[in-house]
Amino acid sequence: MNSMLDDRTVRADGAARTGLCVWGLTARYGPVTALDDVDLTAPPGQVTAVLGANGAGKTTLLRTVSGLLRPQAGRIELGGVDLTGASAEDIARAGIAHVPEGRGVITELTVEENLRLGALLGSARSSVRTPPTIADVYALFPSLQRRKGQAAHSLSGGERQMLVIGRALLSAPETLLLDEPSLGLAPRVVSRIFAVLRELVDTEGLTVLLVEQNARSALSIADNGVVLNLGRVVARSDAATLAADDELRHAYLGF
Ligand SMILES: Nc1ncnc2c1ncn2[C@@H]1O[C@H](COP(=O)(O)OP(=O)(O)OP(=O)(O)O)[C@@H](O)[C@H]1O
Ligand SMILES: [Mg+2]
Repeated sequence: MNSMLDDRTVRADGAARTGLCVWGLTARYGPVTALDDVDLTAPPGQVTAVLGANGAGKTTLLRTVSGLLRPQAGRIELGGVDLTGASAEDIARAGIAHVPEGRGVITELTVEENLRLGALLGSARSSVRTPPTIADVYALFPSLQRRKGQAAHSLSGGERQMLVIGRALLSAPETLLLDEPSLGLAPRVVSRIFAVLRELVDTEGLTVLLVEQNARSALSIADNGVVLNLGRVVARSDAATLAADDELRHAYLGF
């Protein structure tokens, strides 16, 4: 598989130490090793896709990076700052926003009230980035504006996904971690959401770590990607190289 690279080349490259970097990350649930010595770099201002089948360790990776799960070993850095072992709150303050699986909106609150909660974190954080306003989020996702006074429980799956992404953006993150944003959504909605992400990366320099089972769609907007299998990195490369690797696609990417 020609897309396989020696992890050590990433470790040795000083320039790769900016953005989000993890080295040797190992996470276990009791006897289950969900992440096994994972090295990964999400370069600043790029989309990095994390691909792999069910149970590969993708969600565990995001939960570990965002401080929800303590790694057994390894190191996590953002922009050269060591975040290993930091609390989820401190990691959020450092500029990492995690949009978990499942679109957790507060269903009793309106769209706008949900967004205001996101803006609270943005105002509490000293960021190099100017926090976007709720109006900026409405400009990115006009369907949210049309529903701003509606309770969030009345939103469609795609609108909820837009709402949780919008809420995360209001915290003015440097790095956005997204867990399966396309799951269960119509292709048209996925395209819209991915186009917005790509635009934010290109215009604002946002760094995105995009976990997806929908490898084809993810690679269409990603700059680079890693493939996990049973908790280990089995390939990493630029997105075009991964998408063109027939052996890899058939073995791990399902397309
Ligand atoms: N809370 C938990 N307790 C025990 N084992 C867990 C727990 N969460 C995940 N695992 C196990 O860890 C491994 C990695 O799971 P993880 O959820 O990270 O995979 P994933 O790549 O996100 O899969 P999916 O595509 O299905 O979301 C799996 O073997 C899973 O069964
Ligand atoms: Mg998962």
